[in-house]
Amino acid sequence: MLLLVFLVLGYALGSIPFGLLITRVAGTQDIRSIGSGNIGATNVLRTGRKGLAAATLLGDALKGTLAVVIAARWGLEPALAAAAGAFLGHVAPVWLGFKGGKGVATFLGGLIGLAATPVGWVPALLFAALWLGCALATKYSSASALLASASAPAWMAWAGQREAALVYAVLVALLWWKHEANIRRLLAGTEGRIGSKG
Ligand code: G3P
Repeated sequence: MLLLVFLVLGYALGSIPFGLLITRVAGTQDIRSIGSGNIGATNVLRTGRKGLAAATLLGDALKGTLAVVIAARWGLEPALAAAAGAFLGHVAPVWLGFKGGKGVATFLGGLIGLAATPVGWVPALLFAALWLGCALATKYSSASALLASASAPAWMAWAGQREAALVYAVLVALLWWKHEANIRRLLAGTEGRIGSKG
């Protein structure tokens, strides 16, 4: 029952579509009609408004962090349920007919929140380092997210954090599935680079 409560709480927070709300308030074109059509920070950057993209990144990450930090007071399992709920809320928000984002910022936000549990800081730091390294080298946001996300369950499994590794393996599978079109474009060499309009 406790896990369900935190799954739902995480979902409620995660389903707040910051990219859509922020661009709407700023009066830009509907973010779903430009670039990749995604509601995340990478696509908000394609409007040319760096501040809006940064605010989207922050909002989408912090909703995951907040859900996990609240739930972590009850232990690791509730924290993992909240992280999963927030991620699911972002990728399939009921308010948008379950058509949400790709989950990358909320995935990272959840990992940051898990620093307050026995999982510790390593997965969040590893994610950030791999994302930054890959993004600097390739300028592909999607490839950076695919690589960085996979490191989380890999590290957790290596560190013997079985429950966390299992939950994050499922979240990574979903994140990769949401990036199906990006993977196709990466393989075809047509994926847009960070900051490009494509
Ligand atoms: O964070 C989402 C990113 O990995 C891909 O975004 O808009 O290029 O599909 P986008």
